[in-house]
Amino acid sequence: MLRKRMQTRMLVALFMVLTFATAPLSALSQKTSPVAPSRAQAEAVVKEAYEKFKSDTGGKNADYIPYLAQVDSKLFGIAIVTTDNQVLTMGDIKYSFSIQSISKVFSQAMEELGADKVFEKVGNEPTGRAFNSVFAVADMPTHTGNPYVNAGAISTVSLISAKTADEKWNKILDFYSRVAGEKLVLIDEVYKSEAATNTGNKALSMLLAKYDRIYADPFESVDVYTKQCSVGVNVAQLARMGATLANNGKNPATGEQVIKPENVPHILSTMVMAGLYDGSGGWAWRVGLPAKSGVGGGIVAVVPGKGAIAVFAPPLDEAGNSVKAQKVIEYVANKLDFNLFSPRSVGLKASE
Ligand code: DON
Repeated sequence: MLRKRMQTRMLVALFMVLTFATAPLSALSQKTSPVAPSRAQAEAVVKEAYEKFKSDTGGKNADYIPYLAQVDSKLFGIAIVTTDNQVLTMGDIKYSFSIQSISKVFSQAMEELGADKVFEKVGNEPTGRAFNSVFAVADMPTHTGNPYVNAGAISTVSLISAKTADEKWNKILDFYSRVAGEKLVLIDEVYKSEAATNTGNKALSMLLAKYDRIYADPFESVDVYTKQCSVGVNVAQLARMGATLANNGKNPATGEQVIKPENVPHILSTMVMAGLYDGSGGWAWRVGLPAKSGVGGGIVAVVPGKGAIAVFAPPLDEAGNSVKAQKVIEYVANKLDFNLFSPRSVGLKASE
């Protein structure tokens, strides 16, 4: 009996030594998934997608924020940033557009309070309604819904600690800049345009106050939220923000651990559930990637362990999601086997 146990132990030890000795160097300092596509493959597919969709005229710019209505509808840029910090770009990559709702993904509330507290204070259920719905706030048991609809996002902003609104805003801007790996700035004209017209968000904040689901001054929270939505990003910066999530919260360019690794799965699962609002179910069905859209025309999709793809093209569909960006990401994700719900995404082919 003892002899048999000794033999088993020796076999296990031998197996471990062999595994270690034969493991490739890249696996010991792994920076990307072993089944990530090659750069040449990704380049070819992005080029195909760019050519295929560049003349697509579907959708319409957001116009409830006056500034957004006059942005050139033909602007079109694509960027991929990988977890080993390779960058691939195409089209209008210098244009700085407002991040809008994509900002909701990168919240310091979760960093400061932990995921459980944010779940308790804001919740995490789909609303099945438009992102700015008043009915959802009145109807849902949590009232806040989830951190990606306007009501939930304003409530989430109210959770961030600061003595003054200015201090909170500066903290947020600094955090976004660290996630992007570059200093980001406010697009003042967007902020002014939205601040002059955001009566709907102010109404949401008062309704949240009625239900005790906002945790700082309601209008001050709306103002800081409006500023965070007006932060400018270009498509490569947005892709790097996504790649930080794909890389366990560590910025692949600066090496800084900006987001706690334990928060990343919560963020990504919320993106799957609500990242494209009432278009999220169709998106999960067709693409199978966590993604987040903004009415400025950007969408970022995260491919965990591999990288992120960001697309900017202003015309939106009825739910507020960029039409061209959805088409490009769907095309690229299908061609490169990114769909997380498919075993092919981890390298398991049907014939094997
Ligand atoms: O509060 C708003 O309505 C905008 N600042 C953000 C909305 C948004 O981006 C929704 N996205 N698809």
